[in-house]
Amino acid sequence: MQILITGGTGLIGRHLCKALLASNHRLTVLSRHPETVAAKCGVGVKAIASLDEWIPSQHFDAVINLSGEPIADAHWSEKRRQILWDSRIGITEKLVQRIAVTEIKPLVFLSGSAIGYYGNGGDIELSEDARVGSDFAAKLCMAWETAALSAEQYGVRVCLLRTGLVLAKEGGLLGKLLLPFKLAMGARLGNGKQWMSWVHIDDYVAMVMALLNNPELSGPFNLTAPQPATNKEFTQQLAHALHRPALFFAPAFFLKLAMGERASLLLEGQRVLPKKLEMSGNKFKHPKLEEALHQLLS
Ligand SMILES: NC(=O)c1ccc[n+]([C@@H]2O[C@H](COP(=O)([O-])OP(=O)(O)OC[C@H]3O[C@@H](n4cnc5c(N)ncnc54)[C@H](OP(=O)(O)O)[C@@H]3O)[C@@H](O)[C@H]2O)c1
Repeated sequence: MQILITGGTGLIGRHLCKALLASNHRLTVLSRHPETVAAKCGVGVKAIASLDEWIPSQHFDAVINLSGEPIADAHWSEKRRQILWDSRIGITEKLVQRIAVTEIKPLVFLSGSAIGYYGNGGDIELSEDARVGSDFAAKLCMAWETAALSAEQYGVRVCLLRTGLVLAKEGGLLGKLLLPFKLAMGARLGNGKQWMSWVHIDDYVAMVMALLNNPELSGPFNLTAPQPATNKEFTQQLAHALHRPALFFAPAFFLKLAMGERASLLLEGQRVLPKKLEMSGNKFKHPKLEEALHQLLS
């Protein structure tokens, strides 16, 4: 397949590009730094710096949309919220505009979203038909999904990737936690009862490949392992995998003071289940957190 990928240079994108190249797909990656694409995504991957380079006569069989300014990295000022919005909804709208004018439409559009769609879910088990939340992250995901779904009017199959906390060695959540945990400074966050719906990067990539290749699958998909953990369990398992103690806890009031509304990403959570992926026969290679962490960190 000829595949266009946005966000292909990111943590998930780099793993996905590697798997797609191994399956002999031909890739084009949209990047603000096109000169870095071959090094990050693989030799032979074509880079474009703007979607204007996608001319109507150029055909892509699939479009995978993973771009997005990191949500947890800086205070959610009005300016920052706009950047978070534009880098997801803005790019998705532009992709759909290109799909509208392209002569031969892609077969499938896989577009990013996140389990933040559900807002603070408490202890309720959430499958794809659960209600949308009401906080900023939920509104962002809702608008992101709505923009992507508008590609359906052009006969394109759309899958929404409601992504959980992706566990990979070299970045993302683990990238941020490894140093403090290795220094025995790992800490439970607040009361530790909030749910963390995680997924091993290899399972994530396998599930995206399944969505790409199965014409029967469309709509939202929870991309999370079938056994989410509470923050307390996650903290204990990570400390155990690194053979370090996790003796501390970060009080909720301190995190709220330091991070403002963004602290909700740490103190609230969702107990998400990958119901649609499992019902369509997909099996996770790393369903258990202990084994997934061991595989990644050993
Ligand atoms: N990793 C997770 O645990 C997780 C969880 C839930 C949802 N997600 C979502 O899944 C997507 C991919 O995640 P990831 O972890 O691979 O992200 P990442 O490593 O931060 O990469 C995101 C990519 O998006 C592009 N990008 C970043 N800021 C941008 C901006 N302001 N304007 C345009 N493009 C921008 C970058 O490409 P260039 O620098 O090449 O332009 C970057 O490589 C993101 O949308 C993220 O929100 C990830």
